[in-house]
Amino acid sequence: MWYDTGDMRLRTIEKVNVKNKRVLVRADFNVAIKNGVIEDDFRIKKTIPTLRFLLKQRAKIIIITHLGRPEGDGIHGDPSMSLRKIARRLSKDIGRPVQFVSECVGKKAESAAAKLKPGEILMLENLRFHKEEEENDLAFAHSLAKLADVYVNEAFSVSHRAHASVDAVTEFLPSYAGILLAEEIKVLHRACMKPRLPLVMVMGGAKIETKIKLIKRFFDTANNILL
Ligand code: 3PG
Repeated sequence: MWYDTGDMRLRTIEKVNVKNKRVLVRADFNVAIKNGVIEDDFRIKKTIPTLRFLLKQRAKIIIITHLGRPEGDGIHGDPSMSLRKIARRLSKDIGRPVQFVSECVGKKAESAAAKLKPGEILMLENLRFHKEEEENDLAFAHSLAKLADVYVNEAFSVSHRAHASVDAVTEFLPSYAGILLAEEIKVLHRACMKPRLPLVMVMGGAKIETKIKLIKRFFDTANNILL
């Protein structure tokens, strides 16, 4: 399916034949965790319609995501930022098994990806345990791409980052937008181009310096801006 968002036409995963294919889903499961407990699984839940769609098509799903901002120091990284507990939560939320491998590239990840059967889900370890992720490293992206046949970006909130799992990986795999990402762009596009008035803009998030431009953009359009 094509989403016409005015400036950009987005190729989405919905019209692609993914049967028996390994689909690398770049999610954003960078969720709030306090004392080892997931405080909010909103981001996980919002990805489930895309995962269910892929499961219905009998795809083999491989999920990659970052969590936090660990120092990239190789395969093991900081255990408090491991994705193991996120895989468990996803399994609970989606109501089916989610396999987990404590690497995102290399032999263990490759072997688990190769063994996946249609309708199965595999989650890999935190991408940011490798500094090459944030360096947009081509060799690292190639190692990720080797795991799959198709790539889906379902991580709108990280799509402004030129990181290997968002940018360089698309050099190696046919790449599509996820259902949620397309929806987020559609809604934002409508709010920017044809807002229905009155318009109240509610801005959240910690990094204000990355939001100033957007706030300015809505100064003349929005009736209220709530920070
Ligand atoms: C977020 O939570 O804003 C996204 O996951 C991006 O995280 P980052 O700012 O660490 O890249």
